Amino acid sequence: MSLLKNLNWRYATKKFDHTKKLSAEQLDDLLTAIQLAPSSLGLQQYRVLVIEDADTREKLREAAFGQQQITEASQLIVFAAETNMDEEFGEKYIDLIAKTREIGREHLGGFEQMVLNAVNSRSEDEKIVWAHKQAYIGLGFLLSAAAAIGIDACPMEGFLAGKFDEILGLKEKGLTSSVIATIGFRAHDDHYAQLQKVRRPKSDMFIHI
Ligand SMILES: Cc1cc2nc3c(=O)[nH]c(=O)nc-3n(C[C@H](O)[C@H](O)[C@H](O)COP(=O)(O)O)c2cc1C
Repeated sequence: MSLLKNLNWRYATKKFDHTKKLSAEQLDDLLTAIQLAPSSLGLQQYRVLVIEDADTREKLREAAFGQQQITEASQLIVFAAETNMDEEFGEKYIDLIAKTREIGREHLGGFEQMVLNAVNSRSEDEKIVWAHKQAYIGLGFLLSAAAAIGIDACPMEGFLAGKFDEILGLKEKGLTSSVIATIGFRAHDDHYAQLQKVRRPKSDMFIHI
């Protein structure tokens, strides 16, 4: 299947077959796709929780207006923005670049300054908004990768972030939930799978200048 065929095949799955689970390899491929998502300055200022525990998912479902995907899908993925982005966070990233690329840290001074400026010039709230935006890019990569390997998914904003943070203890981890997705396999009777895609016409959406 070509990428565009895959993207037409995917849809926001409302009903998962709860008996079908992703293999460890499929799950790892999807997490790798998220890991490979680009981010502003490469900072990857969010973390990703992979939730399988049934009791936790029951509680989270309540905080997501009862949406059944939360408990019926193979896994629930929670993207969570970093809330404590300080100079240390930036320094750790520079260390990682130096180690990965085997470059002396002294050669990264200019970029280090750019990273620290980007962190220091934003208010705490602005940094969280910035982190949320990066998390959504991760979501996009997850959805595209899932479609590419024939795995169903539902992106979801219909949840109470404050409640999710509480249930998952995110505050203590320096995180706050951004957006979530469920992954798994569609139930054969999910009628949403048959619906035509509704999209704005290209003439209405794209502006060529
Ligand atoms: C950020 C985001 C949040 C969404 N939240 C929900 C949600 O809470 N529950 C749900 O069933 N679908 C949710 N959707 C799915 C959209 O309704 C769906 O993607 C859109 O109608 C287009 O349909 P398609 O994805 O099936 O092509 C969300 C989609 C996105 C991208």
